[in-house]
Amino acid sequence: MTLPILITGGLGFIGSHTAVVLAEAGVPIVILDNQSNSSPKVLDRLAKLDVHPLEYVHADVRDTQALDALFGRHTFGGVIHFAGLKAVGESVAQPLRYLDNNVLGTLHLLQAMERANVRRIVFSSSATVYGDPAVVPIPETAPLTATNPYGRSKLMCEDALRELFAADPRWQIAILRYFNPVGAHESGLIGESPNGVPNNLMPYITQVASGQRDYLQIFGNDYSTPDGTGVRDYLHVMDLAQGHLAALRSLASDMPKLLTVNLGTGQGVSVLEMVNTFARVNSVQIPHRFVPRRAGDVAQCLADPQLAKQVLNWQTELSLESMCRDAWRWQTMNPLGFAS
Ligand code: NAD
Ligand code: UD1
Repeated sequence: MTLPILITGGLGFIGSHTAVVLAEAGVPIVILDNQSNSSPKVLDRLAKLDVHPLEYVHADVRDTQALDALFGRHTFGGVIHFAGLKAVGESVAQPLRYLDNNVLGTLHLLQAMERANVRRIVFSSSATVYGDPAVVPIPETAPLTATNPYGRSKLMCEDALRELFAADPRWQIAILRYFNPVGAHESGLIGESPNGVPNNLMPYITQVASGQRDYLQIFGNDYSTPDGTGVRDYLHVMDLAQGHLAALRSLASDMPKLLTVNLGTGQGVSVLEMVNTFARVNSVQIPHRFVPRRAGDVAQCLADPQLAKQVLNWQTELSLESMCRDAWRWQTMNPLGFAS
C-alpha cells in the first residue's frame, strides 16, 4: 500500500494507535479530526513515536468543502473512518447531536469519497449493534438491533454502507464491530483520555488505582455469569489497531467486496476478574463496592472471532495482563490524560 490512507478521528483513542500501526507498516497517513474529543498533543506524541502524517487537518467530517479540498490534495488509497461520538448515556440525552455527527458525518464522507473516486473504507462499528445477544459468542450473522441512539447511529451507518455496496459494487467496505478495546501503546505516550467521569470500566479502574476516585462501583453482582458480574470481551487497543491494517490489506488485495467482521478475543472476562488482574499485575489496590445493575447493560457480550481469522488473517495476540499493565503505565505517566 503506497497511497496514503486518510484516518478520520485519528487523534482519538483507537485512531491514534492505528496511526502508529500504519506508520510502522510504512503506510503514509493523513489525519483529520475536529478535536471534539481529543487533544492536539496527540500529534506531538505521535511524532515521538516516529509517526509523521503527511498532513493533519483540523476539520469536521461534515465540512464538505474541507473534505473536497483534502481529497483534491491527495490521492488516497482508502479511508479509515473513526470520527464519531461514542458515549451511550450522552446519546440518550442528545440523540439529534449523535445522529448529526455520526450519521451525517459518515454520509458526507462517503459522498466526498465518491466525488474523488476513492471507494475503499474501513468503518468503526461496535458490538452494540447486537443489543442483548441471544447467543454468545456472537457470530456476525446474529440479529442486529439498536438499544440507544449511539447504537442506532452505528446501525444506520452500517445500513448505508450495505446499501451503497448493493448499488455500486466497486466499493470496498470493511465494517469492523469492535468489542471492548482497552490498554494503551506500550510507550505510555498515547492512550485513552476520557473527559470527566469515565463511563467505561478500564479508565475508571485506572483512576481508582491512582487515587483520583475513591472506589469502583461494580454494576451488578447478580447476573447469570460465573461470579455474578458482567462479562465482556476486552481486547488490547494495539491488537485492534492491527485489525485495521489487516482489513485494509484484505480490501486492497482482492476484488471489490463488503466485509463485516467482529474484532474481539472470544474470551469472556468478568468485572471482578478484570479488577483482580489489574490489582495483581500492577501491585495496586482497587477498592470496590457492589451497586445495582446499570440500565441498559447486558450480562455477557463476547465475539465469535473466527471470521476475522479467516478473512483478515487477524487474531488478538496480547493478554489481559498486557492490557492492564499498559493501561496503568499510560495512567501513571499521564495522570490527567492529555490534560496532564
Ligand atoms: P475517540 O472519541 O477517542 O475518537 C474519536 C475521534 O473522532 C476524536 O478524536 C474526535 O475528536 C473525533 N471526531 C468526532 N466527531 C468528529 C467529526 N464530526 N469530525 C471530525 N472528527 C470527529 O473514540 P474512540 O474510542 O477512538 O472510537 C473511535 C470510533 O470507534 C468511534 O466511531 C466509536 O464509536 C467506535 N467504537 C469505539 C469503541 C470503544 O470502546 N472505544 C467501541 C466500539 C466502537
Ligand atoms: C459500553 C457501551 C457500549 C460500547 C462499549 C465499548 C454502555 C451502556 N455501553 O459497553 O455501547 O460499545 O462500552 O466501548 O455504556 N462497569 C462497572 N463499573 C463501572 C463501569 C463499568 O461495573 O464503573 C461494568 C459494566 O457494568 C460492564 C463492564 O464493566 O459489565 C464493562 O463496562 P463498559 O466498559 O462500560 O463497557 P460495556 O458495558 O461493554
